[in-house]
Amino acid sequence: MRFYIVGAGVIGRTHAEAIQKLQGAEGFEVKVADPNPQALAGFAERFPEAVTHSDAKAMLAEAAKEDDIVIIGTPPFTHFELSRLALESGRHALCEKPLVMNRGEAEELLKIAEANNRLLGCCSVRFLGLPKMEEVKKLLASGVLGDIYKVTFVYRGQRGRPGVEYQPESKWFLDRSKAGGGIVMDWGPYDFSVLNNLLMPAAIEVAAAWTSKPQTQVDPADTVYDVEGHVGAMLKYQLNDGKPVWVQYERAHCTHGEAYHYVEIEGTLGAVKWSPYFESDQIVYTSDKNGEIEAKESEAVNQSKFGVMDHPVYFFYRKVKGMDSQAVVNDQAVFNFLCLQAIYDCAETGEPQYMQSKQRNLIV
Ligand SMILES: NC(=O)c1ccc[n+]([C@@H]2O[C@H](COP(=O)([O-])OP(=O)(O)OC[C@H]3O[C@@H](n4cnc5c(N)ncnc54)[C@H](O)[C@@H]3O)[C@@H](O)[C@H]2O)c1
Repeated sequence: MRFYIVGAGVIGRTHAEAIQKLQGAEGFEVKVADPNPQALAGFAERFPEAVTHSDAKAMLAEAAKEDDIVIIGTPPFTHFELSRLALESGRHALCEKPLVMNRGEAEELLKIAEANNRLLGCCSVRFLGLPKMEEVKKLLASGVLGDIYKVTFVYRGQRGRPGVEYQPESKWFLDRSKAGGGIVMDWGPYDFSVLNNLLMPAAIEVAAAWTSKPQTQVDPADTVYDVEGHVGAMLKYQLNDGKPVWVQYERAHCTHGEAYHYVEIEGTLGAVKWSPYFESDQIVYTSDKNGEIEAKESEAVNQSKFGVMDHPVYFFYRKVKGMDSQAVVNDQAVFNFLCLQAIYDCAETGEPQYMQSKQRNLIV
């Protein structure tokens, strides 16, 4: 089994660690390409078994084998060309989030994956398959919540901007022409992977959306900084049975308002509240008992040796090998990306945006 990592930066190394965990006694071949000699040297020091290249094209020039996987861990403005290179070299491509920069690139890349009969995956699946997600899915499928009508998905952080407070050395995060956007492109991929995995909508309408760029006294002045730090949207998810579910979405990594998160699904018979990410593994299910609210709390801790940062490689490897997997590929990976584009389009034009999906939902 051969893994080709493109980009030896922060996330390239994380993927290499996941590959180490995944490999059994047989050992996998790992190759890495990065034009930055320091990044490459740092990677080689940590993973001396990896074969290093300064150029991705040269690395991928050798003949492809059926289950070769290329992992693209570079800034977003390079994702399209590098994924294309990987797919056209005859290899499966697992690309970091956001998948690409815009709708045109997303649609073109899907065509390239299909034409080459390869899988195109996105790393935005990190938080899928966690025991707490599976518990929430079970509650949804069981019908105990009644008719689902509302989802609140709010994550508000005050000072967590990549390129400023987080990973300040990677200034590309602040430049729309390199990152594709701000918080929508940074955390939106995870949010819509989670939401779409839970609700499995047949269609989504972004009914209203806004973005804003709150300012601070430490805003970098010596680099391009034109990405949003706060976004909000109202989305109408159309389930396969035709029922609408309203999703109130908000994300901030820079706001002067309060920091909090709130994720809850409400139905006519009950509600479930939990954190899909790092904050807690607790699940709170509330319903009615004799006219009073009854709350049941449970905890679902991930006991697997594969954690969230391993998931993209772990899931994609299983998908390539034809095993049961939470990987999100091709059509669905592109659909999830288009949710982000639709939020930008709605915020910019003031017009609702409508998208149809091919997936089937589990709520009946
Ligand atoms: N840093 C994180 O915590 C994190 C977490 C999840 C996902 N991601 C995603 O991973 C991607 C990369 O982020 P990062 O934080 O690792 O960035 P980074 O700045 O640490 O590293 C990016 C690396 O890509 C290299 N690179 C650029 N163009 C290249 C090319 N054409 N060929 C080969 N290498 C090239 C750069 O030299 C650099 O070493 C982004 O899409 C980001 O959203 C990052």
